[in-house]
Amino acid sequence: MRYFLLFFLVGCCFSEESINNHRFPSDFIFAAATSAYQVEGAWNEDGKSPSLWDTTIHNNASFIEDLSNADIACDSYHKIKEDVAILKTLGVSHYRFSLSWTRILPNGIGKVNEAGVAYYKNLIKELKDNGIEPFVTIFHWDLPQILFDMGGVINPSFVDWHAEFARECFRLFGDDVKLWATFNEPQQVCTGGYGYGYFPPAIKSEVQLEYVCVYHVLKAHAKSWHIYDDEFRSKQNGRVSLALDTSAFIPATESAADLEAADRMLHFMLGIYANAIYVGDYPEVVKTRVAARSAAEGRNQSRLPELTQSEIDYIRGTHDFFGLNVYSATVAAAMDDPPVSDPPNKWGEQGVNTYQPTDWEETSIDGTKVVPWTVQSLLIWIKDNYNNPGIIITENGYPSKGDKDDRRVHYIRGYLSNIRDVMIDHGVKVLGYTVWSLMDNFEWASGYTQKFGLFEVDFNSPNRTRTIRPSGEFYKKVTETRCLVDNCVD
Ligand code: BGC
Repeated sequence: MRYFLLFFLVGCCFSEESINNHRFPSDFIFAAATSAYQVEGAWNEDGKSPSLWDTTIHNNASFIEDLSNADIACDSYHKIKEDVAILKTLGVSHYRFSLSWTRILPNGIGKVNEAGVAYYKNLIKELKDNGIEPFVTIFHWDLPQILFDMGGVINPSFVDWHAEFARECFRLFGDDVKLWATFNEPQQVCTGGYGYGYFPPAIKSEVQLEYVCVYHVLKAHAKSWHIYDDEFRSKQNGRVSLALDTSAFIPATESAADLEAADRMLHFMLGIYANAIYVGDYPEVVKTRVAARSAAEGRNQSRLPELTQSEIDYIRGTHDFFGLNVYSATVAAAMDDPPVSDPPNKWGEQGVNTYQPTDWEETSIDGTKVVPWTVQSLLIWIKDNYNNPGIIITENGYPSKGDKDDRRVHYIRGYLSNIRDVMIDHGVKVLGYTVWSLMDNFEWASGYTQKFGLFEVDFNSPNRTRTIRPSGEFYKKVTETRCLVDNCVD
């Protein structure tokens, strides 16, 4: 049986949505997330050195839409009790947060900064004292400036830098942390940082340095996972993977060409990382297209660094779950293959026409439209392509300008309902769901203009007062009842 709710879509029409009425399993993870750079503040306190984001913003305020910075952000560095209290209010089983690399290792590698470590130890203790499990991301974009000065992610040494940091994290916190992500959204680091260049270091080198970054991220992830597996797993018994992001891709029509276009987009966005980790090597379609286009450009090797057989074997299998960040969807349509260009570009590489229909409900962020039903095909695609892994939705959330919290409720309920549907109807193993975000925070290049929080944060107050929104009340009810409607069946 399904409950049918009617929603009024502004300026348009009624749409009917069915909300799943099956209770979530008792061990299903309900979590909320933040990341270090977006909430902690205390950018230069207690021995922390600057990250690439700190220096980029301090040197060029206009990088951020509202000319703000993350020097104080939500001041979480000084608000452990407040943060854990609001998590407790929500009733979540897990808190996903990240570790600031430059707080723990101010030199990027080497000596540990005890004060930085103490902050995370205290946070973890407070969480556990309140019955909340930490879910820790090792690297959520805030690369140490000192390592960027040595080449950052496009220096092959990045693999060892990340792995050494990961080893320290496992050693320092692994007795208490059972869920780890080595990376958050490497696509944003590689494509945002080195492809389109909308994130620091803002290098526009589509499908060139971008792919060098992908190659190093894959090796760094694998090395960190192997360190856990070899040195810590038997004592600590945790699970390590990474959080990958993609849009869902919906074929424009059911034609074979459009279906293939949607499939290709997923391989380029998600598969370029996931295939290597869950299957072995890059997806065939990605390898073949990049090699062919590289040759047509007159290059003597593919722009996508080849993985050797031993690298393929080393990276394959380095996962204990599938972490997925998903916010929206895109339509994919076949098109004539674009000619090769100099310099090359991603659009040509993918050869897919993408767009979002105007009748999809908008949010305050371009491209983040409200289409919860699309998560079903994405989850089924992951199940089919990656051997039915246990999936944790590591991020999903609704942006606004501080208004429209009712649409946030609609969004979260819609995603959870479709997730529950696909668990039941298609046997997709979804183990958990994480709302982005616990509270409003520093939304990267958008500064404080975009709000994702279940809690509103008053950035004009020195206390950074947190106030629950109706969407927070809604999520609290979901975590309590494991149910999206008034009465659930088991
Ligand atoms: C990131 C978060 C970010 C969120 C909303 C994700 O891409 O992991 O750090 O705030 O999306 O844009």
